[in-house]
Amino acid sequence: MKVLVLNGPNLARLDLRDSAIYGQMNFQKLSEYISDSASELGIEVDIRQSDDEVQIIHWLHEAADLKLPVILNPAAFTHYSYAIRDAAEMLTAPLIEVHLSNPMAREEFRHTSVISGVAKGTIAGFGPDSYRLALIALAQLLGNIVS
Ligand code: DQA
Repeated sequence: MKVLVLNGPNLARLDLRDSAIYGQMNFQKLSEYISDSASELGIEVDIRQSDDEVQIIHWLHEAADLKLPVILNPAAFTHYSYAIRDAAEMLTAPLIEVHLSNPMAREEFRHTSVISGVAKGTIAGFGPDSYRLALIALAQLLGNIVS
């Protein structure tokens, strides 16, 4: 099973963001953690990051065309990108929305996700384990049961 793991703006600069919120891992370490978790589950991951809304939309189109499941951390786009939502709605395999932090426990503008309504589910607040939990959920959803 192959999964696209898409990451939105500013996530490549995690090491420069508030470590009390985002932890200590830089994006490279986070990517390694996701890859290692995926290998344990027998999942192949393609991990990408962009600060560009258009790029993320094109990757969602690609996932829809190839019928690939997607784990998406839309970052700040979570809260206002109807264009990413519309692209996500066209996916043909499950979408799981993830966040490192718990947006519901943060500023009010983060309490809205325009993506959640088109996701199978959302996992937030567990740091890098949000991605690991999303991989486990996908493995179970798609019948690739963890032994
Ligand atoms: C985030 C939460 C968003 O509110 C924020 O804009 C981010 C990261 C998270 O992973 O916790 O950039 O998606």
